[in-house]
Amino acid sequence: MSRAHPAGPKHGDLIGPSPLPAIPGPAAELTAGVWPVGADRDQTGTLCISGVPVTEVAERFGTPVLVMDADDLRTRARDYVRAFTDPSGRAEVTIYYAGKAFLAAAVVRWLRDEGLGMDVCSGGELACVLAAGMPANRVLFHGNNKSAAELRTALGAGVGRIVVDSHDELDRLAAIAHDEGVRAPVLIRVTLGVEAHTHEFIATAHEDQKFGFSLASGSASRAVRRAAHHPDLELIGVHSHIGSQIFVASGFEVAAQRAVGFLADLRAMDGIEIGELNLGGGMGIRYTEADEPLDIAAMGPALLQTVVAECDRRGVPVPRLAFEPGRAIVGPSTVTVYEVGTVKRRSLDGGRKRTYISVDGGMSDNIRTALYDADYTVTLANRIAPAAPELSRVVGKHCESGDIVIRDAWLPGDVVPGDLLAVAATGAYNRSMASNYNMVGRPPVVAVDGGRLRTVLRRETLTDMFHLDPGLTEPPITPTP
Ligand code: LLP
Repeated sequence: MSRAHPAGPKHGDLIGPSPLPAIPGPAAELTAGVWPVGADRDQTGTLCISGVPVTEVAERFGTPVLVMDADDLRTRARDYVRAFTDPSGRAEVTIYYAGKAFLAAAVVRWLRDEGLGMDVCSGGELACVLAAGMPANRVLFHGNNKSAAELRTALGAGVGRIVVDSHDELDRLAAIAHDEGVRAPVLIRVTLGVEAHTHEFIATAHEDQKFGFSLASGSASRAVRRAAHHPDLELIGVHSHIGSQIFVASGFEVAAQRAVGFLADLRAMDGIEIGELNLGGGMGIRYTEADEPLDIAAMGPALLQTVVAECDRRGVPVPRLAFEPGRAIVGPSTVTVYEVGTVKRRSLDGGRKRTYISVDGGMSDNIRTALYDADYTVTLANRIAPAAPELSRVVGKHCESGDIVIRDAWLPGDVVPGDLLAVAATGAYNRSMASNYNMVGRPPVVAVDGGRLRTVLRRETLTDMFHLDPGLTEPPITPTP
């Protein structure tokens, strides 16, 4: 449930009151599962990522800075591959990392080397993963409105799968494939009528959204038939994605059952055998201690078992399976480190007080709080503070009162300008959704890998931004007489 103002949160107070988080235990505690596996504190209380103090990162790279624990990322990728390996050997599974969560060459290469493929959803993401060295046949191309140029590029590069989202796209892709003299490898994206978000899922027809072909209306089976019989298309399989930041395994289970039912109907009624079923991504992560994410080591085997059992029950061969986690691979690996610039104490109605702590980033590096009313965990990162916690709001430096990083947090009452704050679980949909609003450069991403620091993305500079504006980079044009 989002409390965000419908027109975008213009003023912080337009957003209704939220329950305050519980007063925390010792301020230095790092909530398990929220911080990267390599996060701990040294003797001075400084937060370290895989042994490197964030103070050192801040000194070398400035703030704000996103610090990624490379081992955390690789371990999660490995855990997914392991959890989705069918011990019975009947289901062959591929994990595609959803690049929209965060893309950079280093991440592509680490995940490629762990055996994952890549899900991309624009020509830009496609170009990035190919340039970083991901083999094209391990790339899967999504999007509800891919342009003809994007489709042509994808076919030319030899991407393994194009997920077709509409009848218009089916026509467009077939025509381009025909032109190019190739058969386009396609998955048909189906809306199964299962929609899951966090703790709940709805298993009724969910027609009122833009993605995919509807199962309920028969559009999905029409699309499959068209693809199966088209000389310029090679039907690889069927795709479904039920949502994001999901904590309920039952949503995936119901989707899997419905998908297998669809495969059985296609086989019985149209004689079409589907070789691959992609059940999308959406596995949730722990942003705060209130979040209880899925235990993937248990959920993976159970879901594979459901698919195999349902295939046996419906009399269809077990298809190859695929999943597309994004957030669950990269989200927990990264923390954002900010420097505190100002501290103000405000009195609220009812005699309460709130401390406003302004940091040197904000909605330009983390739009999720303003956009989705997302919750995060923050800690004082450069020392242990003896002071009692105060109800605080961490805000950014942008010219809007909705520029909030963390709405309610308990932070030590002695936080002062120059202190560092670290916000956990910012690896997914933070840097990838960043902007340079107010001409603030997007922050760098730095990885700690084998105890050493390396730049994953450098900081965006004013020069980068000025380059887009000919008025700032080109000599003035002299008018012709
Ligand atoms: N596959 C498809 C087809 C998707 O649309 C998505 C996400 C994923 C996989 C990966 O989902 P994940 O495992 O990361 O949840 N900006 C939002 C999330 C948007 C997700 C869009 N699609 C946020 O910050 O929460």
